[in-house]
Amino acid sequence: MEGKKMIIVTIDGWSSTGKSTLAKQLARDLKYKYIDSGAMYRAITLYFLRNHVDWTHPEAVQDALHHIVLEFVSNHKSGQTEMWLNGENVEYVIRDLVIAEKVSEVAAIKAVREFAVAQQQEMGKNKGIVMDGRDIGTTVFPHAELKIFMTADEKVRVQRRFKELFEKNPNITLEEVKHNLEMRDYIDSHREVSPLRKAEDAVVLDNSHLTMKQQLETALKWTHEKL
Ligand code: DC
Repeated sequence: MEGKKMIIVTIDGWSSTGKSTLAKQLARDLKYKYIDSGAMYRAITLYFLRNHVDWTHPEAVQDALHHIVLEFVSNHKSGQTEMWLNGENVEYVIRDLVIAEKVSEVAAIKAVREFAVAQQQEMGKNKGIVMDGRDIGTTVFPHAELKIFMTADEKVRVQRRFKELFEKNPNITLEEVKHNLEMRDYIDSHREVSPLRKAEDAVVLDNSHLTMKQQLETALKWTHEKL
């Protein structure tokens, strides 16, 4: 990749708009690194729950953060990067609804955000990265060359998420999924620190009626315009 211009691509947006799907495909095609910033907040939440950390107490949060090591480790079989917490692969456990129910609360804590954002900025210092999340284009990389803001009709998003979770847990209901999605979007966009919002210079990608192929083509076209 020597001599090739490298940029930072940020993908923010509402829950279950397919940010990570697009980010992974884009990173693969560009031969860039893909970082799922939400996985970091999910792994921190897992640590807090397992260790009964009372996150309403700032000292307890600070103390717990000192014991957390997050790493993105490449799985050579799948070719994907996976989230590791203190030497354990937690990529699958962190997708559970138990984590989804608490993660927005944990991600709203200032100290937690500072902890995660510092690491995210470090990962992007050499560019050549696609990172998805909620505040990547606004806070983590405000000078990113390409910022994409993803949205989709709520009904479409609930269906997509339901399908994904139902495969792992057939007892899950559409109502539970809808409630969790609405709650997360509300907390994520109303929190004091780095709320979810579209960066002024972000391009909007509404994929309610797009196929994965169409959305990837759109994102690739935008990327090539910046290269
Ligand atoms: O993208 P996700 O659903 O895995 O993210 C999990 C939660 O983490 C989401 O509810 C909001 C939070 N999050 C955040 O606050 N900032 C980010 N950059 C990424 C995720």
